[in-house]
Amino acid sequence: MRPVELESPLLRLDQPVLTDAESMYEFCQDPLFERFLTVPWPYNLSDAETFIERYIPGAWKADREYTWALRAPGRPELLGVIGLRLPSGSIGFWLGSPHRGNGYIAEALRMVADWAFAEGIVDAIHWECLIGNRASARVARKTGFTFTGQGPSLAPYRDGSHPLSWQGWLKASDERATKDGWPAEVTG
Ligand SMILES: CC(C)(COP(=O)(O)OP(=O)(O)OC[C@H]1O[C@@H](n2cnc3c(N)ncnc32)[C@H](O)[C@@H]1OP(=O)(O)O)[C@@H](O)C(=O)NCCC(=O)NCCS
Repeated sequence: MRPVELESPLLRLDQPVLTDAESMYEFCQDPLFERFLTVPWPYNLSDAETFIERYIPGAWKADREYTWALRAPGRPELLGVIGLRLPSGSIGFWLGSPHRGNGYIAEALRMVADWAFAEGIVDAIHWECLIGNRASARVARKTGFTFTGQGPSLAPYRDGSHPLSWQGWLKASDERATKDGWPAEVTG
């Protein structure tokens, strides 16, 4: 499919462009990314350039993964990235550290879920994070995901292992209200 843009009063989701590479590279130096994400580590400027120029357009075209840049409407700055993998319906996301604490990822998750469900692309979105990634889990919880337990990650980690992860689903038919059943470490 050709890339799709999504917009709400808070956010615009559009395509990462080469002028985003420098900020992407800087944001990806965050030690949280080494710990919680599967991005290359160490992360080089060329990793951002390859991701933007080759990986993202190729994955849209092959319907393998739909990736968006998060921006404030009318502003060019990159705030973060969100991606929906197919056919699993797995969601991945990150924000540059200066842009956290504004509810951007919860909004982006809602926008991607609304679009993917309305278009019939998936009927459920799968979320997982390494155990202890409370910020990620709280975002999933507040956007209405149901906690389904913990188990080996579906996606391989950087070293090929499948570490224990918290996992959840958001189904197209789900109410978006916060669900019970999340671990105390997330709710506390
Ligand atoms: C996950 C991430 C996108 C969340 O974005 P954010 O802007 O911090 O989200 P929020 O401000 O809505 O914070 C989510 C919640 O987690 C809490 N939180 C944030 N950082 C935290 C931390 N380091 N430890 C514990 N709790 C944290 C916040 O207080 C907030 O709680 P609330 O729901 O009661 O308000 C962001 O933290 C990030 O980019 N992390 C690194 C990349 C990553 O882990 N991505 C997810 C991989 S599965």
